[in-house]
Amino acid sequence: MNIRVLGAGNIGGTLGRKWAAHGHEVVFGVRNPQAEKVQSLLASIGHGATAVTVPTSIANVDVVVFAIPGRAMAETISQLGSQLHGKILIDTTNNVGQATMHSLDALRQAAPGSPLFRAFSTLGWENFANPVIDGLQVDLFYCGDHGEGQTAVHALIAAIGLRPVYIGGLDQAHLIDALTRLWFVVVQQQGQGRHLAFKMISD
Ligand SMILES: NC(=O)c1ccc[n+]([C@@H]2O[C@H](COP(=O)([O-])OP(=O)(O)OC[C@H]3O[C@@H](n4cnc5c(N)ncnc54)[C@H](OP(=O)(O)O)[C@@H]3O)[C@@H](O)[C@H]2O)c1
Repeated sequence: MNIRVLGAGNIGGTLGRKWAAHGHEVVFGVRNPQAEKVQSLLASIGHGATAVTVPTSIANVDVVVFAIPGRAMAETISQLGSQLHGKILIDTTNNVGQATMHSLDALRQAAPGSPLFRAFSTLGWENFANPVIDGLQVDLFYCGDHGEGQTAVHALIAAIGLRPVYIGGLDQAHLIDALTRLWFVVVQQQGQGRHLAFKMISD
């Protein structure tokens, strides 16, 4: 798949690196493609990743992943505008400290028919870089539109090395964000670092 990852920091860089390693064509959308940290990320990934400015055309893109600060979402969505139509959209962003952590409403408004997902928002990036803890595969709970887009997102989550756990449509986004809040609390209280995740078990 051709994936535009908006943001090349902890989340964007970690996800983009793994998708490129899986043979996906990864293009980072950043404010300054020549910035040293962007260039050093590209050099460390090697083959399969490039960088362009955020408003650069996404005509040939299948998936757009938002991995920028939550406060930057409104401006970024308006920069891309109608180009977002028909793309699979993944919101990883958190408006930490706000009543609503996600930007799903703005994305839905900008691209009403596009398959939209809330994923990669509940755990620290360390769990995406290394998705195995004490021999157990980390679960990634996510939600979004059912259908073809979901098959693609499921595969993208699995490509990171995580076990995808789909909990339903976007009406479940509040539960995903509650899980994020729980993760922050548990990380602070346990004092064992951020390589920490929740595991669903069943028989
Ligand atoms: N860190 C985590 O463990 C984690 C986990 C789950 C979800 N998230 C969410 O994922 C998102 C990214 O977090 P992160 O930790 O990857 O952040 P980060 O390391 O600070 O990277 C942020 C990226 O967004 C870019 N950016 C900053 N301001 C921007 C703007 N106004 N317009 C466009 N791009 C902008 C930055 O580029 P510049 O270099 O140009 O500033 C950088 O590439 C956040 O919404 C965060 O809440 C983070």
